[in-house]
Amino acid sequence: MAPVCRLLISVTLLLLISTFSLPDCNFPAVFNFGDSNSDTGGLSAVFGQVHPPNGETFFHFPAGRNSDGRLLIDFIAEGLGLGYLSPFLDSMGTNFSHGANYATSGSTIRRQNTTIFQSGYSPISLDVKYVQFSDFLTRSQIIRQKGDVFKNLFPKKYKFSSALYTFDIGQNDLTAGYKLNMTTEQVKLYVPDVISQFTTIIKNVYDLGGRAFWIHNTGPVGCLPYIMDTRLITAAQVDQHGCAAPFNGVSQYFNQKLKEAVIQLRKELHSAAVTYVDIYSVKYSLIAQAKKLGFSDPFLVCCGHGGKYNFNNAKRCGSTKMVNGKEILIAKSCEDPSSRISWDGIHFTEAANKWMYSQIADGAFSDPPFPLKMDCHRKK
Ligand SMILES: *[C@@H]1O[C@H](CO)[C@@H](O)[C@H](O)[C@H]1NC(C)=O
Ligand SMILES: *[C@@H]1O[C@H](CO)[C@@H](O)[C@H](O)[C@H]1NC(C)=O
Ligand SMILES: *[C@@H]1O[C@H](CO)[C@@H](O)[C@H](O)[C@H]1NC(C)=O
Repeated sequence: MAPVCRLLISVTLLLLISTFSLPDCNFPAVFNFGDSNSDTGGLSAVFGQVHPPNGETFFHFPAGRNSDGRLLIDFIAEGLGLGYLSPFLDSMGTNFSHGANYATSGSTIRRQNTTIFQSGYSPISLDVKYVQFSDFLTRSQIIRQKGDVFKNLFPKKYKFSSALYTFDIGQNDLTAGYKLNMTTEQVKLYVPDVISQFTTIIKNVYDLGGRAFWIHNTGPVGCLPYIMDTRLITAAQVDQHGCAAPFNGVSQYFNQKLKEAVIQLRKELHSAAVTYVDIYSVKYSLIAQAKKLGFSDPFLVCCGHGGKYNFNNAKRCGSTKMVNGKEILIAKSCEDPSSRISWDGIHFTEAANKWMYSQIADGAFSDPPFPLKMDCHRKK
């Protein structure tokens, strides 16, 4: 659907919704499941902190996020009037009273057959995140009974059924196949299995009481400098906005299957509100309109070192080298991250994330087109 058309329909529906004047859902908590696009420090808690200059714009120190500042999930938490989500895996000074973040960088829906040290894909796949969540649900209630500080650091029971459950995962399941030198056709072949495992987890969370689901589809991987730099792409495969079409085709295929799965979930989970959010179109339109929106070249990486896109896979953002016994930062930040879309060739800058949030918050990219704050109202 053309963006203008989509917008008109959304505006009409939003007007309809406001006629019924539905109240905000006042979500008391968010439980998030994802990869590095929404990791607020999970992988850092296990495998070591992300390196500077990550975090420089907003937190002013590395804050577990692969970005100069806030991620989309941070803007979502802010938008709902909640604090930032603490990573479930972070054992230090964590406050889970308003939810927990199970996102970890490099994670996939399916279990991988490689270790993180071989491939970079993490062992904390979606099924593991679910086990962590399930354990958290049970044990947090036992711990709350200890009183004092414990009572305030863990959510009350009712928050689990009133919470918003957000998902942004699947991108790494696609790139993992390419990393194994699979062809696009081979990657497509396993997509239904990936979606089926995704669906199983949503059902499991529903069985534990989750009711409001906010599911991001996957972004255009063919527009990532990481893919464009490390994969063989012919001139004929480059689309009108400079992205690698076959790789975006795989994302679109995944999204089509995901959308079908969401429609099926709505039939099966009678009390759930399942919203499908078209992050693909948000990211693609950001890249397509980069200049108009005040960004520079959408493929020029802010934090990197050399190469066509200021991206070198062997010297990613924060890479250092030893010079005369001293560690020198070589893959450093650009002067003005707010003018860039790509932070490190894989992840987005805070400025890009902020713009994306402005696009999704009112429901313009959601199916059904409900605003984030009203995501609990959809039935069946
Ligand atoms: C935990 O976060 C909540 C906000 O979500 C805040 O009200 C509360 O004071 C925090 N508790 C502690 C002990 O920091
Ligand atoms: C891992 O290996 C098993 C057994 O060969 C296979 O069935 C499965 O699809 C593999 N998983 C991935 C993510 O490649
Ligand atoms: C994929 O191909 C590259 C380049 O030929 C090679 O270096 C790499 O080892 C291959 N990876 C796998 C998992 O076969």
